[in-house]
Amino acid sequence: MDNRHDLNVILSSRVAIILVETLDEKRFLGMLLELSSGGFGGRKKPMFRWSVTEGLRRIDLDMAAQSHNTDPTGILKHILAVDAPGIYALLDFHPYLDDPVNIRLLKDIAVESDDGARKVVLVSHELKMPPDLERLSARFEIALPDDNERASIVTDVVREWNAENPGRVKVDPHAEDLLIRNLAGLTRADTARLAHGAIFADGAIAASDLPNVMKAKYELLNRHGALSFEYETVRLSDVGGLRNLKRWLEQRRAALSGNVAGLEPPKGLMLIGVQGCGKSLAAKAAAGILNVPLLRLDFGALYNKFHGETERNLRESLQQAEVMSPCVLWIDEMEKGLATDSGDSGLSRRVLGTFLTWMSEKKRSVFVVATANNISLLPPELVRKGRFDEIFFVDLPDMKTRETIIQIHLQNRGSEINTFDLATLADTTEGFSGAEIEQGILSAMYTVNANNTGLTTDSLLAEFERTKPLSVVMREQIEELRYWAAERTVPAD
Ligand SMILES: Nc1ncnc2c1ncn2[C@@H]1O[C@H](COP(=O)(O)OP(=O)(O)O)[C@@H](O)[C@H]1O
Ligand SMILES: [Mg+2]
Repeated sequence: MDNRHDLNVILSSRVAIILVETLDEKRFLGMLLELSSGGFGGRKKPMFRWSVTEGLRRIDLDMAAQSHNTDPTGILKHILAVDAPGIYALLDFHPYLDDPVNIRLLKDIAVESDDGARKVVLVSHELKMPPDLERLSARFEIALPDDNERASIVTDVVREWNAENPGRVKVDPHAEDLLIRNLAGLTRADTARLAHGAIFADGAIAASDLPNVMKAKYELLNRHGALSFEYETVRLSDVGGLRNLKRWLEQRRAALSGNVAGLEPPKGLMLIGVQGCGKSLAAKAAAGILNVPLLRLDFGALYNKFHGETERNLRESLQQAEVMSPCVLWIDEMEKGLATDSGDSGLSRRVLGTFLTWMSEKKRSVFVVATANNISLLPPELVRKGRFDEIFFVDLPDMKTRETIIQIHLQNRGSEINTFDLATLADTTEGFSGAEIEQGILSAMYTVNANNTGLTTDSLLAEFERTKPLSVVMREQIEELRYWAAERTVPAD
């Protein structure tokens, strides 16, 4: 079920240096030993492993380590000097690749062993090679476990629990299927570790295990900084209005998890609109509605943290999101990450290109939720028909939605809503964004707290009347935004 055939092909070739980046060292050495003692290219070969602590040890025959051989340069000189076939697995040699002497020695081995008899296999979690040596080497990657293999790993863990405990693991078959699917993209060892964690915690495989498994999985994968796991999602009931959007999302929940025959998983949506009206809030709620984890991609970090490697890191982040699928990938204020006038010699265009190509080709259930405030910074090709499944316009809340928003924020802060005149409050907050309503409620609470009085409709009204909403100052921009949105978007509410 793995790709040992590929490894066999490399071993049978003339290439003398083989590079293997893996976290599953034990498994890889097992594969290598099996192939070397089974004989590839027609001949069995002696196999050695080397580490800086143990020195060189022959492992196809059970021989003691030669501890005098712990010096990294010494071992390369030794390999270069021996005139016999053999496979040398050098474990964690990567720190010594900084030494030009070692690089030269590896090159000598590569050039002088072109009959294919001597192989040096570098095995580390990460191997950065100088380009000239890279060209003389072959890379091999162990395939990650497939569906069947993951299923059998989970079964093994269940057996292990059953053997050690009275009773049997309580298995919810649907949750088990999801568990097996959600463990995709991890090594065997990590798959077993996460399955072990889920099953041994309570002797059961249940839907409630999945969020923790996804968090643990994310932590294993997250070696880069542009993608983050949002632990805090938002309940649907925390979002006022946006009824169209909510309904639209609910209709796509099943398809995103790949459970609807004949329907492709939805690609994603874009939320454009007035600042403070719940775009970011709705993006977080989308993950809850769709019942999948929420990942956030920070385009800004992509440029700042990875100077000169922006596109590669975007690709890696997108790949990582695919490994976490099904999930929501949230890109907040995307236009800021794609500003076209920053004199960055076409970088933002290439980043956009990379993103759009991925969007159109992706097969995995990664549902993109992008938000944008500023249409003048938005590249037209991003909002062209067919890029996203839908573009929603989030406008200032209407009377009814303002009432709901006031209710949500009063309730969230422990007020008894029956004592407030919600209709009057909603009427007074015409032109307010959701954020301004929330802010007004907070300010009023500070005031009454300082005055040692209770929060009332009147104290709220006083606060709201003092507030000049942004929509007054920005009337023209909002009109322009509405005009732009009229022919390109559908209303979110
Ligand atoms: N429709 C809404 N329902 C409930 N709260 C809202 C709504 N719109 C805005 N808010 C409040 O204002 C805050 C800021 O809104 P946000 O989603 O960041 O706006 P945007 O991303 O559109 O600029 C939210 O965290 C929430 O507390
Ligand atoms: Mg926002």
